[in-house]
Formats: sequence, structure tokens, C-alpha cells
Amino acid sequence: MCGIVGYVGPRVSERALDVVMEGLARLEYRGYDSAGVALVDHGHVATAKRAGKLANLRHAIEEHALPEAATAIGHTRWATHGGPTDENAHPHRGGTDGKLALIHNGIIENFHALKSELIEAGVDFRSETDTEVAAHLLARAYDETGDLTEAMRLVVNRLEGAFTLLAVHADEPDKVVASRRNSPLVIGMGDGENFLGSDVAAFIGHTRHAVEMGQDQVVTITPESVQVIGFDGTPAEGKPFEVTWDAAAAEKGGYPTFMEKEIHEQPHAVADTLLGRTDAEGKLTLDEVRISEEDLRNIDRIVIVACGTAAYAGMVAQYAIEHWARIQCEVELAHEFRYRDPVLTPSTLIVSISQSGETMDTLMAVKHARAMGAKTVSICNTHGATIPRESDAVLYTHAGPEIAVASTKAFLAQITACYILGLYLAQLHGGSEARNAAEVMRQLQEIPEKITDLLGRMERVREIARFMADTRSVLFLGRHVGYPVAMEGALKLKELAYIHAEGFAAGELKHGPIALIEPGQPVFIVVPSPESPHSLHDKVVSNIQEIRARGARTLVIAEDGDESVVPFADEVVYVPKAWWMLDPLLTVVPLQVFACELATAKGLDVDQPRNLAKSVTVE
Ligand code: F6R
Repeated sequence: MCGIVGYVGPRVSERALDVVMEGLARLEYRGYDSAGVALVDHGHVATAKRAGKLANLRHAIEEHALPEAATAIGHTRWATHGGPTDENAHPHRGGTDGKLALIHNGIIENFHALKSELIEAGVDFRSETDTEVAAHLLARAYDETGDLTEAMRLVVNRLEGAFTLLAVHADEPDKVVASRRNSPLVIGMGDGENFLGSDVAAFIGHTRHAVEMGQDQVVTITPESVQVIGFDGTPAEGKPFEVTWDAAAAEKGGYPTFMEKEIHEQPHAVADTLLGRTDAEGKLTLDEVRISEEDLRNIDRIVIVACGTAAYAGMVAQYAIEHWARIQCEVELAHEFRYRDPVLTPSTLIVSISQSGETMDTLMAVKHARAMGAKTVSICNTHGATIPRESDAVLYTHAGPEIAVASTKAFLAQITACYILGLYLAQLHGGSEARNAAEVMRQLQEIPEKITDLLGRMERVREIARFMADTRSVLFLGRHVGYPVAMEGALKLKELAYIHAEGFAAGELKHGPIALIEPGQPVFIVVPSPESPHSLHDKVVSNIQEIRARGARTLVIAEDGDESVVPFADEVVYVPKAWWMLDPLLTVVPLQVFACELATAKGLDVDQPRNLAKSVTVE
């Protein structure tokens, strides 16, 4: 998740730097670990790049002016491979003559193998990024072909994973060549100038005529032309469209709020978090491991520490890890864990989960655990943040920057990462599910498409939410992995719509909470898949009957084709079928949409709810 801009204009105007910097400012929401530009100027490529926000790059350019140019590319980074440093910032140069510069959004999954090949061929690497591999390959292909478009086509056929690449070469000064696979790229059509961007925000200040690129395509823009070909070299065409948003709305991708946008980015958050997780032998890997495999094998107890939404992701992890890896696993709110004098030994593994990687409560729990000799793994969405730096191993989620205060896409990415961690530990410990890791990964790969399908069916949920704008209390029930989903549904409603909401384990109902049920009380029930074990499905269907009999208004979330809930439901929201352990990645989506829509109907600010902050850096 990075922001990418490309521009070619008339030689006389030489305003490429301004256009690209303006585009980067609009795309900065996509990542702000570093920023950089490359300009093509009379047989040279000049670059400037800096770690940190775009402002740092702006200062650097003010101090050392770049030449005026008519062609430029620019990048704002969300770090994946390699920390947020000046060296790892894009653009990256390829070859030794400094004539080629390249920027990248995505993850090149086979970069280890390609990098070894290049090192063997004598290439020196200046950064830790996967991107630099593509830059060197492109420079070598250019030396062979003398044609940037053909060189790009040859290189992309060697890459695996997700990528948008943009490149410029000093010997072809009026050209930007780009390619895309599983990563966004749109073309902006100007008059005597053309643009490229991760999304239309990049060029909305200059043109509203845009072209959507297809999968596996290479595009070459010059001031007067736009040419698209497939990765196989056959001519192709993009899909033209008119942008109807204004510049301000463009940063939100045309959505009214960041939260709506982030809810719709969830298929990508899950897909990107799954990328590049297996090595050449098919073994699962973490991103950073400063702990021996032997130490990890000796782990006999896991404690997951996190706060809020991240703690609910941890509850899902508990079910998955115990089931797959057969290691005792507990979840605890980080602030409670830290100060109750927990029993920790070198064979205890602390798994922290944090979107920001800066939550003070979670950080304190991790520090305490380390001081007590426990091993620590961090699941985090922010590269190089404090919690991953303080941990023995890291698994990064690739949800991209989450701007809305209430977490949505980071939650789905955290759950995905927890499944990966569960399978990784199962492989290390030889747990029963280790043999099936590839099959579980295959089923996880199908989830993004199912989320997209589900997001397309949310109209009725929105209607229900608008209809319930005056509701004063909503209850949520779930069981097994549906229990944390119920808790998360209640949290979303509390923090966004400021109404009383509570999540319960469905089995707990008869032990007290059922007294809350009175005629008309709305209750969401997350029903397990009919294929889930131990007749959990039937048990929850019985719970629905029990509350319905006492007058509850039952809003049921069930799997496609589950007719058994119909007689007891006032409303049924169906979600696509998935393997029961993976259900939370789907069942939580209607609850997010419900809370967001209800809060919007109440006229509330869903991106910045009252009293809250995105990153809670105090205890
Ligand atoms: C709720 C929400 C919070 C965070 C919690 C932890 O929507 O966003 O509950 O999940 O503050 O934050 P991180 O994940 O940054 O540690």
C-alpha cells in the first residue's frame, strides 16, 4: 500500500516536479514512511528521497533544488520489505550508470530467489527492499533491448506477487512506462500531457478523464500518447471513465468517509496480508525473526496481549492456535496482564497484536514479558513501530494506513495474520493441522473474493441501520469464533453511534443476560456455520428461539443456504460460505457496515468519534 504518481508533459512547461508533488500530497494517506521523486532531465535522471512524511522530502528539495523537467515519477511509501529509511525509500536506481529509476507498490513474492541470482551475477544492492530487485532486472533488460516498454514486459513476466511498477530512463526522456498485477494503477488523460496514479487523487487537479487498467498490463505514456499492452505483448485497451468526485473527495477514493473506504478495502487487506508467506519449500515464514526455531519449538504456553478491536482478533487467534498447534493459549487485555504479576517463563510466548504498534498498554505488556524472560512475537500494521522493534519476531499485516479511528480493515488483516501464525506454530510443533496448512492457506486465498461479494449485498443492512437510528440499545450474541465477532460488533456500535451495545457469548445468555430481553429489544446473532463441530450451530439456533419467544427483534447473520434460522429471524443477513474457522473474516463485515451507517444516519462523524484517538500512546 503505497502512493504512486507519474507525469509526462510538454518540454516547454517543465512543471513535472510540481505535478508529482501535488499528486503525492493527495496520496499521502496511502503511506507516509518515506517519499521520493525522480525527474528526467537532458540525458540524466535526478532523484530525491527522504524517510518520513512528504514534508521531509519537500525540505530536502528546498535545500538542494532539482532540475526543471517535463517527466517525473513520485512515490510515498508504506514500508513492507525493509524499514522506513532513506536508503529503502523509492525511487530505486537500476544498473550502474544511474540512468534508470523505478518505483513500486506491492510485494514481489519471489524477490529472494531473484536477488540471489542478481548477487551471483555481481549486482550490488543498496537497500533491503524487494523493489530494488525489479530496478536491477529492468536496467539489465533495457541494456539488452534498448526499449523501456519491452524491458518492462520482459521483467514483469519474471515477477510473482502484487505490483505496480513505474519507471523512467534517461535515454527515453518523454516516457513513463508502468505495469500492474494485483495492485492499482489508473491513467489520467490530459491535453498534451498524461498522468499515472495509484488512484485518481494523484491527478484530479489536472484532469477528470481517466482510464482503468486491466490486470497484467503494461502502459507507456508520452505527452501525446497512451499505449497499453498485455504482459504477453498483445495490444490491449483500458476502460475509460469520468471522475465525478472533486479533489477533496478523491483522497477518500470517492467514498464519503475514510471508514467506508477502509471497509471496502478489506478484500485487499486480507489478500495483501497473505502475500509472500511461504518460502521455496512451501514452509510458512514470519517477516522478522530474532529468535531460534528451537526456542519457538520449546514454547508450551501462549498469551495474546492486545487492546480493543485487536484483542478481539486475539480471541479468534486463541481458537485457531489451540485447534491447529495444540499449544495452550490465553488472551488478555494488555493493561490487565501487565499489572497482575503474571507467571511467565522462557517457554511462554507473548503474542502482541496492534495496528499502530504504539499502543502504550500493549507496549508495556510486551516490555514486562521480555524482562521476565518470555519470548515475544508482534503482529503489527506499522512497519518499524515501537512494539515490533521491541519484539523477538514480527508478522506484519498489510492493511495499509488506517485513517478512520475505528478499526475495520486492520481487524481483518490481524485475524488473517493470526491464522498464519497459528499454522506457522502448528508446522513448528508438528500439530495435527500442520499437514493441512497448504489447504487452509488455499481457503484463506478465497476469502477476499467472498468479502467483495458480501460488500455488494449490504443494501438491506444499511436500510435496517437507518431504520434503527433512534435505537437506544443493541445486543450481540455469538459462539466460538463468532463470540469475538459479537464483541467487535458491539464495540463498533458504541464507539461510532454512542449507543449502549453489549456482546455476549451465546452460551452465557441463560446465566444472566437473558433478563435484558424485553419486547422489541434488537439482538444480532452471529450463527456458526452448520458445518461447525459439536452441534454449535444448532445450539445457537436454540438461543435465537429462546430470545424470540421473549419478544426480541432478531437480526441473524447466517451462512448462505442456512434455511434453519428463517422461522426465528426478523431479518437474516446471509454471508458467503467459508470454512467455519475462517468465518469471522466474513461475519463481522455486516456489523461494521451497520454501525457505520447507523452513526452516519445520526449525523455523527464516523472517522473521528468523540473522545477517541487513533493511537493510544498513554497508559
Ligand atoms: C476500535 C479500535 C481500538 C483499537 C485499540 C488498539 O475500533 O480501533 O479498540 O483496536 O485501541 O489499537 P492498536 O491496534 O493500534 O494497538
